[in-house]
Amino acid sequence: MFTKLITCIVLVATSAGAVIFGFQEERRQIQKDTSPFMKRKLDDSRDIVSGLATENYSLISKSAQDLMLLSHEADWNVLQTDSYLRMSSDFRSSAQRLRDSAHKKNLDGATLSFFEVTLSCVRCHKYVRQNRELKKK
Ligand code: HEC
Repeated sequence: MFTKLITCIVLVATSAGAVIFGFQEERRQIQKDTSPFMKRKLDDSRDIVSGLATENYSLISKSAQDLMLLSHEADWNVLQTDSYLRMSSDFRSSAQRLRDSAHKKNLDGATLSFFEVTLSCVRCHKYVRQNRELKKK
């Protein structure tokens, strides 16, 4: 079980890394300054991986909470399409499940929710890349 969990965390961490680095590449071409705001998602994700690896539930829940708060801010809404709003709301629900699992000290549940959160990162970024012309000016 433990080995599986570690494998899982490593997988999640690697995929999160891939999303993030891919996206930083993107970002260079776009140049609109939501970047410090957006980068907080990256800090939170790193803290979550670290929290999962060390069973630091307060770090996990604090970072999940921060992700939820970010998704409510105006700077989040770079696009205002139905799909973007739906993906934002899915992201929020996953972050909320992550926070709740951390509160319950449920490591497997938290790992799974973080995986969902990471999937949301990937999906939304893919969508944004494909629909950059819809971005708010
Ligand atoms: C609902 C959509 C959505 C979700 C979910 C999402 N992002 Fe983003 N992200 C964006 C948008 C939009 C931008 C800004 C792109 C732009 O300005 O064109 C962005 C930018 C970023 C950047 C900025 C890159 C840079 O160099 O400035 C990082 C890092 C980032 N996101 C990480 C993440 C991580 C990590 C997650 C998951 C925890 C995540 N994002 C989830 C929409 C999303």
